[in-house]
Amino acid sequence: MAQYEYKKLGDKLFTYKGMVLPLKGIQLMSAEYTDSLRDFEIREDDVFVVTYPKSGTIWSQRILTLLYEEDFPDEVNKTTQERMPWLEFLQKGKDYTSRPSPRLFCSHLHEHLVPKGLQGKGKIIYIMRNPKDIMVSYFHFSKKMKALEASESMDEMLDKFFTGWMLGGCWFDHIRGWISNQDKYNILFLTYEEMIKDLRSVIVKICNFLGKKLSDAAIDKVVEKATFNNMKQDPKANYEFLPKEATDRPKGLFVRKGTVGDWKNSLTVAQNERFDRVYQEKMKGLPLSFIWDITDIQN
Ligand code: A3P
Repeated sequence: MAQYEYKKLGDKLFTYKGMVLPLKGIQLMSAEYTDSLRDFEIREDDVFVVTYPKSGTIWSQRILTLLYEEDFPDEVNKTTQERMPWLEFLQKGKDYTSRPSPRLFCSHLHEHLVPKGLQGKGKIIYIMRNPKDIMVSYFHFSKKMKALEASESMDEMLDKFFTGWMLGGCWFDHIRGWISNQDKYNILFLTYEEMIKDLRSVIVKICNFLGKKLSDAAIDKVVEKATFNNMKQDPKANYEFLPKEATDRPKGLFVRKGTVGDWKNSLTVAQNERFDRVYQEKMKGLPLSFIWDITDIQN
């Protein structure tokens, strides 16, 4: 395994070339499989949603499957995961190469690990979220997912967030990789916070980027189905179908609180100051500004 720069992180995760993935799960995950994805053939009309975990992946996944519902009328009753799978989490018995076009994929991969063919073909929507909310969201999520290591305390969670010893690896590296290499891709950057602020405008932006022409009424329908409350009540959108091997607490697994600034309820003043210090250091030279508080959206 040495040639893959492979290392186990605790009992549940492994790291490979900066990515962190579960050792076990319902999907096939390995350094070799991750490596093979560099040569995964990309089609002109492939669409990827790329995120660091807990940035709004399944929300965007839901929106994309709704936008493409007319292309696949037979798939309406399938789960969002079946209609838009994660590239790196290949489910047993599935073959992505035989999927009909346009193929929709999610991915948590860092920029240097995605298929090389994406440089020139396909479209990517990259969703960002303020990292304090990501960290708090992951803190809760990792308690429910058997494939992940939960943190005993928020101090431990901060350590993991800074070292990147959590699903997806280091958030700072993920975002830097994608922002710095954006010119290589046909990519649209969006934020979770702008989705909270004005979902309809974001969906229109996505349609324009993808060249999808939907009527105003059709867009309204997508907005309605993708609201927090509707997704929370929809067992398919909220991933309540996950088997017992993955989680025994499927309710509210992915759709939990759905707000901006939840970190304020979880971080002490000292923890927040520590976060800010590391953030300032690690984000040097990266021209990004996040919305940290719901009041900044409401004003
Ligand atoms: P919280 O844990 O802060 O509530 P991911 O899909 O990348 O794992 O991200 C999960 C986060 O997105 C969770 O954040 C979840 O509540 C939020 N989310 C999912 N669907 C949402 C929706 N329709 N509206 C707002 N937030 C949503």
